[in-house]
Amino acid sequence: MRFDYSTLQNIENAVGDSWYILDIERFISNYKEFLKAFQDIYPQTQIAYSYKTNYIPLICKTVDDLGGFAEVVSDMEYSLALDIGVKPKNIVVNGPYKPENELKRYLLNGSMVNVDSFQELDLVMKVANEHKNTKFSIGISCNFEIEGYPPSRFGVDVTDPRFEKALVEISKTSNLDLVSIHCHYPYREVSSFQGRVYGILEVYDRVVKYCSPKYIDIGGGLGGKISKELMEHLGVKNVEYVDYANIIAKTVHAKFKEDENKPILLMEPGTALVADAMSFFCKILGIKEVRGRAIACSSGSRVNFHSRTSKLNMPIRVFSKNQGYRKKHESIDIGGYTCMEEDYIYRSYNGDLETGDYVAVDNVGSYSIVFKPPFINPNVPVVTFVENELRVIKNKETYEDVFKTYIK
Ligand SMILES: Cc1ncc(COP(=O)(O)O)c(C=O)c1O
Repeated sequence: MRFDYSTLQNIENAVGDSWYILDIERFISNYKEFLKAFQDIYPQTQIAYSYKTNYIPLICKTVDDLGGFAEVVSDMEYSLALDIGVKPKNIVVNGPYKPENELKRYLLNGSMVNVDSFQELDLVMKVANEHKNTKFSIGISCNFEIEGYPPSRFGVDVTDPRFEKALVEISKTSNLDLVSIHCHYPYREVSSFQGRVYGILEVYDRVVKYCSPKYIDIGGGLGGKISKELMEHLGVKNVEYVDYANIIAKTVHAKFKEDENKPILLMEPGTALVADAMSFFCKILGIKEVRGRAIACSSGSRVNFHSRTSKLNMPIRVFSKNQGYRKKHESIDIGGYTCMEEDYIYRSYNGDLETGDYVAVDNVGSYSIVFKPPFINPNVPVVTFVENELRVIKNKETYEDVFKTYIK
């Protein structure tokens, strides 16, 4: 999204001196491009958007409107999906924490629950036995080795003898359908996806002796679109959706091309769809010099965009108030509002910067707002543009929002 200074001034007048901008059109085009890359090779591909990556309700609702599923890992995320009108059957429930009462709610609603342990499977069996006239759909999160990568802590160990026993047990339970086999690994390298697909297809060959799963779910972990500058910062190569599709969809297509009943390939992207669809904006409130070092004070903080990349300079754009003479800095550190010494929006910025300028940090859609702690300040608002009209989609958080759960 392109902005001029006066548009940003209007946003500041409406919501305060820092905010996120969600580019929902960018998200929609990412979603369509991602799905097309996979469906061009394997038409039976479906997206389940990972809520945890960025659960702004407008994004989740947009996914539902586009025909995508919701991928959730907590009761909070599950409630959000229901709240915005997602049908329970279009919700995939993952994750290692599913207390019995919550698990029961997902199952009785008809959502698809991917069990993460044998213990959890016992709970599912218990629910199935208590409700013999209700049909339940479950999946198994599978944990297998991917050569060259450390083991994951998630899912059920498919080399455990109890895995085969579980398949027998499920197939004998008439109101329990094993509809999905799932895996998720956090490694972003494209090459790691070959191991995931081979691994899950090996599991498929074992499972198919007992039932035919409707879904093969490869999880998330795919990289998002990033600018050339960020690629250089991160030392990574450009990866397109088609690069992932060429491994995942091609391998699945090769396996099932002769089958009449092809399973649906389920992908759970978060970062891949949302990373470049959000930017964070803050304002330069003053510039000082401390022992020869130029330091800008801003209305933003690193906690607003990425706690886990605290040493990394994310690419920024500066929007200048003053179009005439501008002070050029060889090296200026743009500091955040918190009292953490290492809280810098950007280190050693080389360029023009003056009090009153706005700074945009791009590519912050993934694991940013969902990780923002109320450290020192409540969170900032989120805005978007709908047909060129500014729309506030999250109000600025207040003192009351943060302290209403404390007992004074
Ligand atoms: C089960 C599952 N699916 C999907 C995702 C989304 O991952 P990403 O945002 O890296 O694509 C995650 C992230 O942790 C996950 O745990």
